[in-house]
Formats: sequence, structure tokens, C-alpha cells
Amino acid sequence: MADYYWLVILMAGAPLLSTGQCDVSCKGQDGHPGARGDPGRDGWPGAKGEKGETAVMDDGPVNTAARLWLKGEMGSRGLWGPMGPKGYRGDVGTPGHHGNPGPPGPDGLKLGQNTGLLQHAHSAFSVIRTSNIYPPYRQNVTYQETVVNRPVDFNTATGHFTCRIPGVYYFVFHSVAKVSICLYIASNALENKLGFCDYNRNYDQVLSGGVVLQLTVGQKVWLESFRDQQPDSATRDDRDKQIIFSGFLLFSDK
Ligand SMILES: *[C@@H]1O[C@H](CO)[C@@H](O)[C@H](O)[C@H]1NC(C)=O
Repeated sequence: MADYYWLVILMAGAPLLSTGQCDVSCKGQDGHPGARGDPGRDGWPGAKGEKGETAVMDDGPVNTAARLWLKGEMGSRGLWGPMGPKGYRGDVGTPGHHGNPGPPGPDGLKLGQNTGLLQHAHSAFSVIRTSNIYPPYRQNVTYQETVVNRPVDFNTATGHFTCRIPGVYYFVFHSVAKVSICLYIASNALENKLGFCDYNRNYDQVLSGGVVLQLTVGQKVWLESFRDQQPDSATRDDRDKQIIFSGFLLFSDK
């Protein structure tokens, strides 16, 4: 439409120009229409439109069918993330309940069984003087027979017991004879010798004596013959006679 408008104006102007230079007889041929011009440039941008209306929130019931339809498919599981840092230590919890009683323990050992100390804390002896010779006065009694001597704390040759395990011991002797005999129980542990006498008149009679002693290592105990009121003939008596000397540890100090 616009192109056609310009064309009309050009055609109307041509006769006006020719009238100024030519007379009535001057008449040329009509020119050809000009070539079509290039398209014009873009116009200016239009004014900015008005702001649209605010969208309305739909408070109505949820359309679950529509939601399911809108929901996409579940994605594949992601990779394990790196381990996080260690957390803080928590508070100490409340004490737990009492546990059940444990099973009974093993049987106990009888005192003195399988205990090294007490195993060695044994000492006992019993020796016999079988000689018919009257035991000489002021001499230690010696013995010919050993009934028991464990371990070997008694020396039959010298006639004395030597303490090896400190502790409390019991010593006792019995003599059998038809003649009067007097015997001391003597020891380093005793301040005074303990004397025992009998006064026989040709019949077998038993003389005995005993004592409990607290001994330390090395202390000795022995029997010693002594004269009290025996007749001179007593030492010449050669009838059967016997002296049994015994001793044992009651309990050791440790
Ligand atoms: C008897 O033995 C003890 C202890 O060995 C000794 O000290 C004492 O002298 C002895 N007695 C006699 C009379 O030999």
C-alpha cells in the first residue's frame, strides 16, 4: 500500500516539471516506472505493557489423580557419600540391672594340702633306747632304734632334736624299767630342766614326762639322766629297760 502511494506522487509530479521547460508542442514519451526500493528499517519498540494479574492459590481439595499423573518416575539410588566426622561423646547411661549369681566355685583345699610351705612344715620323731645299760647320770640319753624321724631332725647318735622349723612342738618320753630312773627334759628353750623320777621296787614301771615348747631354729631338745635318790646299785642294773622319746611339730610360726 505504501509503495503504491509513492508511485502515485511521482507520476503526478512529472507533468509539472515538463511545463517549465517546454511549450505545448514539446511532448516526450512517458518514462518507465522506477525500480522497487529496499524495505524500510524496523520501527521503534512499542511501549511496555501493563503488569499482569496475581496468580490465585488453589485452596481446594488436592487432586490426587492429577498429582499422580504429574509425579515422575523414581530415580536410581545415588552413590554412598563419604563418611562423616566422628560425633561428640554422649552422656554416661544409667547403671544396668544386677546380673545373675555366678556358678559355685571349685572345691576348697584342706588346710595343709598341696601348699608348699606346710608341706615342708613337717617334723616328727620317735626313737627308742633299747640298751639294758643304765643311762649314765649327767649324760644325754642316746638311742638305738628309730621308729619315725621325718625329715631328719633327730640325731640318735647325739640324742638331741634340733629345731629346723620355728614353731610350737610337743615332746614326751616314756621309760619302762624295774629300776629307778630319773630323766630331765632339757632344752636351750628352757630356763630349767624338767625332772621326772620314779622309785621302783623290782617291778616294771613306766615313767613319763612331756612338755610343749616354743622353739626357734637351731634350738635343741634332749633327755638327760640324773641321780636323785637312786641307790648305788641302780647303775649296775642290767635288766630289760626301754626309753621312748617322741616329739613333733604342733604348728609352725608362719
Ligand atoms: C647334751 O646335748 C646338748 C645339746 O647338744 C649339749 O649342749 C649338752 O652339753 C649335752 N650334755 C652333755 C652332758 O653332754
